[in-house]
Amino acid sequence: MRVFRSISVTAFATVVTIASVLPLTDAAALEDNCKITPERTDAFSAPSRHAWNLFLTLNHPAREGAFVRGEPDCTKPLGAPGATAVWESWRLAATEVFLADGSEPPEWNDRSLPSGGTGSTPTNRDSIHDIRSISASFHEEDGVFVDRGGIGESRMNRSTYEFIKDNCLWSRDGLDRYAAAVIAGKKPHIDLPTDSIEVKAVWLEFGADSLPRGDPDRYYTAEHDGKLYGLTSFHILTKDVPKWFWATFHHKDAPENQYEREDDYGPPPAVKGTVWENYILGGTQIDFVNAVGHPITLSDHYIEFDFQNSSCITCHSQASNSPPGVPPRQTTDVGTPDPRPYFTDDTMTTFRVIPTDFLWSIPFRARAEVGTPPDRCIW
Ligand code: HEC
Repeated sequence: MRVFRSISVTAFATVVTIASVLPLTDAAALEDNCKITPERTDAFSAPSRHAWNLFLTLNHPAREGAFVRGEPDCTKPLGAPGATAVWESWRLAATEVFLADGSEPPEWNDRSLPSGGTGSTPTNRDSIHDIRSISASFHEEDGVFVDRGGIGESRMNRSTYEFIKDNCLWSRDGLDRYAAAVIAGKKPHIDLPTDSIEVKAVWLEFGADSLPRGDPDRYYTAEHDGKLYGLTSFHILTKDVPKWFWATFHHKDAPENQYEREDDYGPPPAVKGTVWENYILGGTQIDFVNAVGHPITLSDHYIEFDFQNSSCITCHSQASNSPPGVPPRQTTDVGTPDPRPYFTDDTMTTFRVIPTDFLWSIPFRARAEVGTPPDRCIW
């Protein structure tokens, strides 16, 4: 995976440059900060471990300064005070990928668009002064969290982003043109690269009683409009397997949710003594049903609020160039979906709409094109 490849490159570069001035043991310690490497085969053979390895890698402090999105700072350990996580240096779906005028977003490292704010691990409370506000909004159409004092965001890594750019999927018109080209046999189905990763996160505002209690010190926090928020829930999605690897984490203060699944690995030692020890794996998923055809559920109390009896993969399998809510959108979000609404008729020979490879953010966030698209986007 690109993010992991860059981890080892950075680790190596760090050791090479600093090893000459530090005793060997210190250099080895620096390298250790980036030693976690998620293994793709774990997605089906050790899914809980895979989820935790992804959690450690994505929440590792990001490199600051000469900004390269998605690179970890291997000189810092997980949970270093005041650090911002790697996934927060990725591009924000709402404002940095799917632009309001449907135009092509700039190259990966560009920083000209509003990126929302970033959170940080706890430090001296008084020193949180330079965190810019988060402009991301979550489920803005139906305001799932707006009423509950929460904010949310979806971010994507470089592979996902470049696939969307290369295939002109950043606007509603671009998506529809691509779908027409697939139906006409001119383009392959949408199939994201195997190193694609996306994250969706929800932050809840701390209540008046939680501040004196010191709750913010047990959360990864962000400031927005002068209010302090804690990272409450965290979805991870990777293309490690064809139907993707789905994982969800939440803070241990979150209410019980009977639709979660067992963690048979447990929090790894690396989180001990850091703010990340307060987070729990809610479960993982790689299929619609189990071995006897029983639907597998997985949800988060907050992100899937009011529809916890659902399954990540079932709902996401319905993402297509149809507008959200329109068929192939189904009446249930558990189990195997009915494929027929994808086709022109029950013989299921000719596609009517094209799946977006489980990614909801494309049909959900892509906006109409105001200007003229680049020539390469007309097929
Ligand atoms: C009932 C439907 C539904 C269910 C169930 C659901 N999601 Fe989503 N998800 C969405 C929609 C709609 C979006 C796009 C909206 C947005 O970006 O906020 C989305 C966005 C995401 C994203 C951002 C990437 C993208 O483009 O899709 C991730 C990651 C994600 N969901 C993970 C999960 C995980 C993990 C679960 C299960 C624990 C889950 N989702 C359950 C509907 C659902």
